[in-house]
Amino acid sequence: MAKWIRVNDARKESSLSEAAGESVEIRGWVRTRRDSKGGFSFIEVNDGSSMGNLQVVAPAELENYADEIQKLTAGCSLVAVGKLEASPAKGQATEMHATEIRVLGWADPETYPLQKKRHSFEKLREWAHLRTRTNTLGAVMRVRDQISQSIHRFFHENGFYYINTPIITASDCEGAGEMFRVTTLDLERLAKSGGPVNYSHDFFGKPTFLTVSGQLEGETYATSLGRVYTFGPTFRAENSNTSRHLAEFWMVEPEAAFFDLADNMSLAEAFLKRVFSDCLEHCDEDMQFFDSMIEKGKLDQIRGVIEKPFAHMTYTEAIEVLTSCGEKFEYPIQWGTDLQAEHERYLTEKHVGGPLILTDYPSTIKPFYMRVSDDGKTVAAMDVLVPGVGEIIGGSQREERLDVLEGRMAEHELNPDDYWWYVDLRRYGSVPHAGFGLGLERAVQYVTGMANIRDVIPFPRTPGNAEF
Ligand code: 4AD
Repeated sequence: MAKWIRVNDARKESSLSEAAGESVEIRGWVRTRRDSKGGFSFIEVNDGSSMGNLQVVAPAELENYADEIQKLTAGCSLVAVGKLEASPAKGQATEMHATEIRVLGWADPETYPLQKKRHSFEKLREWAHLRTRTNTLGAVMRVRDQISQSIHRFFHENGFYYINTPIITASDCEGAGEMFRVTTLDLERLAKSGGPVNYSHDFFGKPTFLTVSGQLEGETYATSLGRVYTFGPTFRAENSNTSRHLAEFWMVEPEAAFFDLADNMSLAEAFLKRVFSDCLEHCDEDMQFFDSMIEKGKLDQIRGVIEKPFAHMTYTEAIEVLTSCGEKFEYPIQWGTDLQAEHERYLTEKHVGGPLILTDYPSTIKPFYMRVSDDGKTVAAMDVLVPGVGEIIGGSQREERLDVLEGRMAEHELNPDDYWWYVDLRRYGSVPHAGFGLGLERAVQYVTGMANIRDVIPFPRTPGNAEF
């Protein structure tokens, strides 16, 4: 039986000697077919393992040539068996000379949505179930996978344990009130009566929500295991229809005991650089594609970022820059207001020309858990901003002093009964500690240059959109 190999391996020149003249098999989907006058069909087959296709050369002698092979169109699935040969065609090292082609599934060309012409990303979102069969979305998802793998590798290599924090929670970590409430639904009663729907909020005996961040629970583990990270879906019911907000997104959140703000910043910088260099190393073909088709110069930009230290600035310095630069912003800015995307972009793209770590924000615009600085006005917060995307990381040193934390909770009008366990961490062996959250999708956006966050997550959830 012929050995089944993936298209990315079959395309390598080394596969010619590795297969040693034996037949191999590939399994995938047809991208295009063209018939030559000389009695051959050239079928471009992709199986998702690489940007490039394998060209399968099918001779007219194949028994199903007229009945099936000449009817193959984009989207059909097949198994092709044959020998790999050096290809005379430009841009590909190998091709397969097929001795057998078995069609597994047909795709009606009248209705198959992915036609040869380029579709807009907006249009492709209507076919979220098929769009990963396109070059761009396939490449995005491979890079997304790479980033996820790098995240795990980086933290493990640095002594962080992977922990799973709950999706359903009773506490609002960010205090922004942008949470989805969890209810139960009596489907049986609904089926019998046809309504009204019987919702219950009482399942857990208290109101519960989909988590906006695993940080608070992460802190409990950091103050026992020392260094941990969570990596999972998080949910925000913010009604922002922008190119960088999702209602459901993935966040990686390291949390480390005995870390201060400076340690936290060093960790974030080393972490991002590692993720970026892994993408360059392991996703070369896809990254070349983004560089030429999505954002010109992306590769050089990322190489530059890896080489140079990140710029640092306090919030107060940033406000000085923004108010004296002469740039017209849509949202006016002054000390005490939060930075908008346009401000973040100005700072990274025009002022420093690269990533920027902003620190020491006013306490009034940051959550209750951030450590209050000696000036009493700012907190030990840090955001990492990158060109094109803006904020990709938000983090801080946490308030470890019991009395100060209790004071901050009162200021934020939080109910101490909901956070008794969190406060306990300051009561029993409290230590300085810090952590941050990286939005996975914003990292994928930055690495690939994709303009809209909806195109870097398999099934985007945004206001008014949960089709699949
Ligand atoms: O700055 P945020 O809200 O920080 C936290 O949730 C902290 N509890 C994290 C921590 O310290 N453990 O969010 C962190 C990051 C942002 O920088 C951004 O990359 C991403 O999460 N993010 C979103 N990504 C997509 N859609 C949204 N609606 C997002 N909100 C935040």
